Amino acid sequence: MAVAEDFDRPIIDTARLRLRRPNERDVPAIIDAVGDAEVARRLSRIPHPYAAADARFFLDHVVPGEWVWAITRGGEDTIIGAVGLTPEGETTELGYWLARASWGEGIVTEAARAVVAYGFDTLGLPYIMSGYFADNPASGAVLRKLGFVETGQATRPCLMLGRDVASIEMRLARPA
Ligand SMILES: CC(C)(COP(=O)(O)OP(=O)(O)OC[C@H]1O[C@@H](n2cnc3c(N)ncnc32)[C@H](O)[C@@H]1OP(=O)(O)O)[C@@H](O)C(=O)NCCC(=O)NCCS
Repeated sequence: MAVAEDFDRPIIDTARLRLRRPNERDVPAIIDAVGDAEVARRLSRIPHPYAAADARFFLDHVVPGEWVWAITRGGEDTIIGAVGLTPEGETTELGYWLARASWGEGIVTEAARAVVAYGFDTLGLPYIMSGYFADNPASGAVLRKLGFVETGQATRPCLMLGRDVASIEMRLARPA
């Protein structure tokens, strides 16, 4: 797959986190984190099992063409998650994952809040879409804390499960 454009992105520092571009050194930690079936089954695009070639595909073909950041704890360089904005035709979709060991600390909410602000303030997006599988209420809680509102119910594909899964669709408009 050719990538026409390389999306440059800044380092973003938040109270507890540093968001930076994912790189080759992240491969082992990415495999550990998204190789976890409890992470992969909540995501659309993650094959299971997840191999080094899948992490390289992410680095070579996803990272250059999307506004995606590695989530690291401030002062540490180890990737513990990822958060990004994916162009989808006329719209832009927020997505994220976090290694299971770091769930429940408010990390994704903090990281996604910074990326949403980047999308509105720097990219000038009029609104951001997202969605989550109906059996993943923690992700719904993250989106609601960011101000997303439900627009409807649908299905989304899950590569690991090999089928479409019931989903809740969400939208956040740029603050006036
Ligand atoms: C979903 C996920 C992103 C949440 O990340 P996190 O950093 O643990 O999320 P936060 O701690 O910021 O917030 C989680 C919220 O969900 C709530 N929550 C957790 N489990 C819940 C449940 N079973 N039902 C309802 N709410 C739940 C928490 O209480 C918290 O809300 P609060 O701060 O109001 O208490 C993380 O679990 C993950 O990466 N999962 C695997 C991949 C994934 O689901 N990606 C999103 C795909 S749409």
